[in-house]
Parts: sequence; C-alpha cells; structure tokens
Amino acid sequence: MFNHPIIARRHAIKLGLAGLLGMTTVTTTEAINRGRQTPVRYHPKRDFTVVGQASLKERAAAKGLIFGAAADKHILLNTLFANTFTKDCGMLVAENDLKWRTIRSNPHTFDFSKGDWLVKFARTHGMLFRGTPLVWELGLPKWFKKKVNHKNAERFLVEHITKVAKHYAGVVHSWDVVNEAIAVSRSKRSDGLSRSPWLEFLGEDYIELAFRTAAKADPKAMLVYNDRWLDYDTPVGNAQRAAVLKLLERLKSNKTPIHALGIQAHLKARETRFNAEKMRGFLKDVASLGLKILITELDVQDEGLPADVMESDRIVAAAYEDYLSVVLDEKAVIAVLTWGLSDRYTWLSRNSRRPLLYDSYFQRKLAWNAMARAFEQAPKR
Ligand code: XIL
Repeated sequence: MFNHPIIARRHAIKLGLAGLLGMTTVTTTEAINRGRQTPVRYHPKRDFTVVGQASLKERAAAKGLIFGAAADKHILLNTLFANTFTKDCGMLVAENDLKWRTIRSNPHTFDFSKGDWLVKFARTHGMLFRGTPLVWELGLPKWFKKKVNHKNAERFLVEHITKVAKHYAGVVHSWDVVNEAIAVSRSKRSDGLSRSPWLEFLGEDYIELAFRTAAKADPKAMLVYNDRWLDYDTPVGNAQRAAVLKLLERLKSNKTPIHALGIQAHLKARETRFNAEKMRGFLKDVASLGLKILITELDVQDEGLPADVMESDRIVAAAYEDYLSVVLDEKAVIAVLTWGLSDRYTWLSRNSRRPLLYDSYFQRKLAWNAMARAFEQAPKR
C-alpha cells in the first residue's frame, strides 16, 4: 500500500520488462490504479504531526471508538510497560492468558488465575476487558490430541465454553467465540473451512454450536467471529473475504447469536495490494448484516523494509494510517486493538523489528502518531 523507492524500482523493472515483451510500460502508480488498487501514499516528507496531548483512548473515545491492545500478565508485571499501557489503552485484550493451553493444563481442571489477574488489572485502571478465543484450532494443550475424539468433542467444546464464558460473565466486553475457522489457502472445501479438529469431529455446525453455547453462558457479552487475511486485494484476500462473508450470512440467516466480526489486520508494510474500494465494500456488506466490526489484532510487519530506522518507521506509520483511514470511515467499526503495544513484546519478533506503536524502551514512534491521526480523521459514531 505504501510506496518505497526500492519497492517502486523493483516494480518499474518488472513493468519495464513487460514493455520489452511488447506490452505498454506504465508507472507503478498507473499500474496500481488500473488494477483499481489504491494509489500508494508514502512520501518521504509525509506529515505525521499530531496536535495536543490527549492519549489514544481519549482520541478514540472522542469519536465513539475504543482503542486498546493485547497483553499478558507476565508483561504487565513490568511497571514501565504497565504505565505506558494504562495511559493509552481503553481496553485490555488477553493475548494468551485465556487460551486453552493456558487455562487447561489437564482435561479436568480450569485455571483462571492469569485471566483473573488481567480482569483485576483492567478494572483497577478503568479499562474494558476482552477475551480470545473460546474455540480455535491452535493454542490447544498437549493432551487435547490424545483425549478429544469424535465421541466426546461436543462435550469438551460445550463444557469449555460454558465454564469459561460463565466465569467471565459480566466482566468481559466481548469474546472471540470462534477464531480463524476459515483458511481458504489451506482448505479443500468450497466454503474454505479450515481442517481443524473441531471441523473433523463435529462438522461445520461446530461454529453455530459455539455461538449458541456462549450466548447461553454469557447473554451480555458481544460475541465475535474473528479471522485473518482479510486486508489485501490478493487471490487469498479476495477468497477469504468472500468465504467469511458467506459464513456470516449463513450464521445470521440461522439466527445464530453473533454480534460482530473481528478483523485481525496483521498488515505487511511491503504489501502494496490494498484496495480501498474493495475493503469499503466488504465492511459495508458485513455491516448490512447488522454486525459490528472490531479491528482485533492490528500490527504492521516491517520485514523487508530499508535498514534505516527513520525510513522504515515512516513506511510502517503510513501503513497504519492508510489502512485505518479507510476502515474507520465505516461506522460499524467500533474498536481498534493492536496486537501488543511495544516492540519489546511482540509475537512478530522473528521477522519484524518495529511493528508496534511504542519502541522497546516504551518511547512513542511515528506509528503512534499515525494512530492518533486516524482517530482525528475518523467520523463520529
Ligand atoms: C499469538 C500470540 O501473540 C503469541 O504469543 C502466541 O505464541 C501464539 O499466538 N492470531 C491470533 C492470535 O488469533 O491468538 C495469535 O496470538 C496471533 C495470530
């Protein structure tokens, strides 16, 4: 989505070769426009100025939005990080502390100690609290494979959702009831459903069962279907959006108690194939089903960007702002949540250096400004 001289040059070489082969040579921007993709907006002099001293949660709230981030107990024990977190975040998302692997060390007991600590932390600092995920093919404990089978899978699913959702009823804002059920690039099915143990044991109705069980256990929580790869105008992105929309339509037409779509939004700074028109269309289609939308796991991979930190930070910041300026135009979007807050603690540490809003020393980066600017530009809900 964001042009960078090196990337542009690479494109120009490719397009130039196309010219040699008898096609018309075009510039990168023209090429992108022809494909109806959004023209790149990166510019070395691009302005990331922010006015005023307000925190991100205040800037978001001014537009009727929630800003927050994911974290676990063990990183919030770092007081410097915790101070940074509470200043900006209006919502705390449990990054790993509510996953099966964390709370189900054996098939018979539930350990809510870390989750409860997070709830207390959120309450102490006036933050909303959000849980993820009740049902997912990953993040499962080691015993799962040996213990769960065709015969008992339904009992395990219903018991888990009921116990966990009941435990946090009244304190949780929203749950990712089902996470990443669709994986078009890995599925052999026309509906794109991922070959998870839940699908294998229970068939496609496990999704509906999960939502109905969650609604019974906590009638007040916002129930969310959460998924990834929804952001770009690529073959996978297009197919994933279509499959997710179909699933949501099916759930709604069966009167499943589902209230929102979570868009993970793990962005890639080098990815140029963002199509604002397609994204707006997708968000509108989701909203027209009566669903809210949350951006649930936003971060920007900086893999492959120039080594120069100032330069790569600008590209990352542009990625945040360009994406959010499109997404926040849709009034069904109610929250922006980043997957971590500081580069010190990120699941991307293997392939990214500076994907988040704060650096490893808890200093704001341009990406913070980008977030603040996106809230500034967003229409009021
Ligand atoms: C990730 C965590 O951030 C890591 O710490 C953990 O090792 C693996 O899971 N999509 C999701 C999240 O829905 O739950 C994942 O979180 C990141 C991808």
